[in-house]
Amino acid sequence: MTHLSRSPAQTQTIAGGLARSLKGGECIALEGDLGAGKTQFVRGLLRGLGGEPRSVSSPTFMLLNVYDTGRLTVYHLDAYRVTGPEDFEAIGFTELLEQGGVVVVEWASRVSELLPADRIDVLIEPVSERERRIEIGARNVERGA
Ligand SMILES: Nc1ncnc2c1ncn2[C@@H]1O[C@H](COP(=O)(O)OP(=O)(O)OP(=O)(O)O)[C@@H](O)[C@H]1O
Ligand SMILES: [Mg+2]
Repeated sequence: MTHLSRSPAQTQTIAGGLARSLKGGECIALEGDLGAGKTQFVRGLLRGLGGEPRSVSSPTFMLLNVYDTGRLTVYHLDAYRVTGPEDFEAIGFTELLEQGGVVVVEWASRVSELLPADRIDVLIEPVSERERRIEIGARNVERGA
């Protein structure tokens, strides 16, 4: 499903739509260049789950931020600065996937070896200064879908 966002607020609204479908146990893989809007998207997820969007910051230096929402715990990771999958393994990424919360990864392709086959891929591409193309696709790599 492809959306066109014309503002950060609209990106949050689109993410909020995805949030409503989450039941726990999902992994959301965010892709898009620096400043594409990945963190804005996570704010929208938080808002959609009943959490506090202002608490969301880019976990670039922390690797992992954990947010409690009314409904589900969100584990927000950023793979931008990882040197390899071992950095993610060291913080227990595989275990996080089993907590029944929602695991969201910025720069997910940098740890592609660790991503579950069943995941939700979100690609954010700048179209202009304020416009973003947001493609959301649930997919299972093993099925090739
Ligand atoms: N339609 C839009 N959707 C999202 N962000 C937008 C949009 N238009 C402009 N922006 C701006 O783009 C920037 C997106 O920043 P954000 O931190 O979300 O990017 P990011 O993809 O997380 O980058 P990084 O890889 O550095 O973590 C913000 O400054 C935001 O205001
Ligand atoms: Mg970010």
